Amino acid sequence: MKNQFWSRRDRDTLQRAITPDRSGFRAMEQQSPEQLSLKVVNLRKWLPVRLGLVASPLSSRANYVKAVDGVSFGIGRKEIIGLAGASGSGKTTTGRSILRLTERTGGEVVLDGQSITNASQDELKRIYRRRMQMIYQDPYASLNPRWTVGRLVSEGVNLLGLAESESDRLQMVCNALEDVGLKPPESFVEIYPHQLSGGQRQRVSIARALVVKPQFMVADEPVSMLDASIRMSILNLLQQLRDRTGISFLYITHDLASMRYVCDRAAVMYLGKIVEMATSDVLVRDPAHPYTRALIDALPDPDPDIPSGKVTIGGEIPNPSRLPTGCNFHPRCPRMKGRALCSETAPELTEIAPGHYASCHFWCEK
Ligand SMILES: Nc1ncnc2c1ncn2[C@@H]1O[C@H](COP(=O)(O)OP(=O)(O)OP(=O)(O)O)[C@@H](O)[C@H]1O
Ligand SMILES: [Mg+2]
Repeated sequence: MKNQFWSRRDRDTLQRAITPDRSGFRAMEQQSPEQLSLKVVNLRKWLPVRLGLVASPLSSRANYVKAVDGVSFGIGRKEIIGLAGASGSGKTTTGRSILRLTERTGGEVVLDGQSITNASQDELKRIYRRRMQMIYQDPYASLNPRWTVGRLVSEGVNLLGLAESESDRLQMVCNALEDVGLKPPESFVEIYPHQLSGGQRQRVSIARALVVKPQFMVADEPVSMLDASIRMSILNLLQQLRDRTGISFLYITHDLASMRYVCDRAAVMYLGKIVEMATSDVLVRDPAHPYTRALIDALPDPDPDIPSGKVTIGGEIPNPSRLPTGCNFHPRCPRMKGRALCSETAPELTEIAPGHYASCHFWCEK
């Protein structure tokens, strides 16, 4: 089963044939801008932490949590990309940095061929807030309980000045509510969040983002707070919206099973870096990085089609402000076996097969 995609000989040939791609971004760069909705290049978000009582972020003892450290990927039109990884791996910070909800330390975000990295606050508001939106994890906390659904959904329309009249605004709100399956929309406009179920609240959250007609959305664990029985309907809704409106999504999750279900391609993060990226099917069926492998083996109810070698990893995630030398994952890696290369040299994210990227010196041993 392990050789389902490549025989050992094929893998060796591939490894020799493929020139290591130092940025992990070559395939994305080769796509024409029309195919790409969004490019993220070497994105970094480092947060200063204080060491000792009197140290400041400017002192020589200042250190950094590298919440996002050199993340690169592209998202095509109508594509859903998954971003998975353990708590603290940097998924939310990546999403927020892309949308400039938090300022990045370095790197670039390019939307439709235009860098938004240096866009002014005014440009951000006028152009990019409309084109890029976020759906939050907690539909209870993200909706003001004192506002009606109509007011909640129209907030973005008002802020961006998109409606020409009151009836125009109401029409936009009703269209968005209908698009997320809240029908008839008029019956939801005047009610409050506490009158809605969890699933309906999350639909309202999605309508709030959708009403301004974005082309890209970050969905940060949009179903993790919902009852299991309604999660699938929300995931189906994301796919329907993608198909109907052409929106691209970055779907952030802990759950590889839902990621495989909803995403076209997927990436796994560990300590601020992408360690593997491929189509979601290949990522789950034929992982090359031992961390991805361990995440899949930890699935509570694995797909019987998924090969199970039962890789388990020991130890704790290292303190993010004191990262290990070499490969970040080497202290926990079952493949390391005392190899100096792993503890001395950080592996690059390398294209190991067409469209399949992994950062492991010994990916061949999968
Ligand atoms: N404002 C902040 N100040 C200091 N450290 C922060 C801040 N925001 C995030 N971090 C750190 O950055 C790292 C990444 O955090 P982030 O919230 O992006 O992780 P995540 O993958 O979304 O985790 P989760 O799955 O729990 O939501 C963590 O180590 C976190 O402690
Ligand atoms: Mg998060």
